[in-house]
Amino acid sequence: MSQDVSTQLRPAVPAAHPHSADPQSAHACACGIDRRQLLTRAGGVGLGVAAVAVLAACGAGSDEPPAATAGADGSLAKLADIPVGGALLVTDTTGAKILLVQETAGTVTGLTSVCTHQGCTVAPGNGELDCPCHGSRFDLSGNPISGPAKEPLAAVAVHVDGDAVFSGQA
Ligand code: FES
Repeated sequence: MSQDVSTQLRPAVPAAHPHSADPQSAHACACGIDRRQLLTRAGGVGLGVAAVAVLAACGAGSDEPPAATAGADGSLAKLADIPVGGALLVTDTTGAKILLVQETAGTVTGLTSVCTHQGCTVAPGNGELDCPCHGSRFDLSGNPISGPAKEPLAAVAVHVDGDAVFSGQA
């Protein structure tokens, strides 16, 4: 009479979850799960608990990389905080998350962090930029290297002034 619990829980994750790489899947959170749809599909109490666990992982922004906030002087970041040969994810004064890339010391470019695949936040990786949702990787110029994203990350105007980086053209 006992049932395999893992078999019972399997329907709690809808087939349309974006991690299934379904390009038509809904995007209600960083994981792309429509919460009402998930709870509806989950059904009974046991499955509801499983659904809540999935939602907790989703709602906590587990796929959402942390971003530094703008400085008191209005700067996006201090130059020294951006790794040379890497990038720093920051939040500008409008709340948009952008990637500050310092390929060579003292030269900083800005890129949107919005993944060109399905809109997740792209984060700095090891000498590249990585999307946590479906594994797209971009070079430091924002060009796609691998994964489902085929378009480059859009440029965002930033400039260096002294020891800090600011939004917009110089
Ligand atoms: S949203 Fe799918 S790889 Fe970025």
